[in-house]
Amino acid sequence: MLALQADFKLFVAVFILLSTFMMPAEAQMRGDAMRGAAVFRAMNCVMCHAGGGNSLRPEKPLKGVGFANKYRGDESIAVMIREGSPNGLMPAFRQSQLTDQQLFDVICYIRSLTPKQRPVVNSKIKAVSPGSDVKKAPVTKLQPKRT
Ligand code: HEC
Repeated sequence: MLALQADFKLFVAVFILLSTFMMPAEAQMRGDAMRGAAVFRAMNCVMCHAGGGNSLRPEKPLKGVGFANKYRGDESIAVMIREGSPNGLMPAFRQSQLTDQQLFDVICYIRSLTPKQRPVVNSKIKAVSPGSDVKKAPVTKLQPKRT
């Protein structure tokens, strides 16, 4: 009987140990930009956000320096997609429509629309954050006028 109890304790200990090691598997869920691009089409994001733009509010694209600065953390993009915009123009995508995995994937896709750049640093422009706009602009335009 005592031996059996000891066995049970061992079983419990091993179980707890295993489950703590297995737990992070979910926390480590990773997004994938390729899958995200498919989600972006399947969920009709592309209807309003073709090419990462915004047909209803052109001043709010899903890419570029402004976007990268506004949404520094992926968490904030997740909230936007889950809650939608207060004015109702951007619909909310709840768990029943978009799984967490699909959400991560679509965020990865959105992030991939703004390629990371080494910050442009000089005296007047302290740091220009990563963005496609920076890449397109000729370097001379980013330099301050000499006075
Ligand atoms: C019916 C059109 C429509 C659909 C469909 C739509 N969006 Fe939007 N989305 C908008 C509009 C309009 C805004 C700007 C809302 C506002 O006024 O702030 C927006 C804003 C956003 C923003 C924040 C942009 C910013 O600069 O603040 C993200 C991120 C976004 N949408 C992602 C998505 C994703 C991902 C999907 C698909 C799962 C999606 N949208 C589907 C219309 C849409």
